[in-house]
Amino acid sequence: MIKVAPSILSADFANMGEAVRKTQEWGADYIHLDVMDGNFVPQITFGAMMCKAIRKYTNIPIDAHLMVNDPRKYIEQFADAGADIVTVHTEADKHIHGTLQKIKQCGMKAGVVLNPATPISACECVIEDCDMILLMSVNPGFGGQKFIPGVVKKIQQLKNMIDKSGCSVDIEIDGGINPETAKLCIEAGANVLVAGNSVFTAQDPARMIKLIRGAE
Ligand code: DX5
Ligand code: ZN
Repeated sequence: MIKVAPSILSADFANMGEAVRKTQEWGADYIHLDVMDGNFVPQITFGAMMCKAIRKYTNIPIDAHLMVNDPRKYIEQFADAGADIVTVHTEADKHIHGTLQKIKQCGMKAGVVLNPATPISACECVIEDCDMILLMSVNPGFGGQKFIPGVVKKIQQLKNMIDKSGCSVDIEIDGGINPETAKLCIEAGANVLVAGNSVFTAQDPARMIKLIRGAE
């Protein structure tokens, strides 16, 4: 089942509760929360308090993408704030296996994130500890960037690795997703698609979500 996770990085920050309520109304499967610390990536967006604030406006899963250094420090905060899924960057954590365990101990689904230049091998030893693996199809830190076509090959490699492992792990793709790039990613094996700019700038966001899902 193909899931679409609109990123609220492209939503109206001054009216986030309403934006999240509408996103669910448009048929989103997840709310994608782009948490940025201004260190791991240049921008600062928000932390667990934003997760807590929007929790009241939606009952679909909140998918928190932590673009922060040493993410383990924040896991409990996101659990208390009602996040359902937390993904952490392999490039930002020296003890990623322990952090995945911590996310699960806090009752959330766990995943790792790989930047465009990070090889699939970086997640090979933690596949069975992941519910989802997020591949960046842009360099993290900003919405509205151009899709990096080379990531399609990485999706195929990851899909093969997951199939060989016998584990059931979602493949999420994040950055520059629109109906055209979504099709390439789904054909390659991705089943969760993050989309910020394409959804929040669309004339008809509900239809855009359907088009990205390939349902139209
Ligand atoms: C970038 C974020 C992405 C981004 C996607 O660092 O992780 O989720 O917001 O936005 P679009 O879909 O606008 O490329
Ligand atoms: Zn993201």
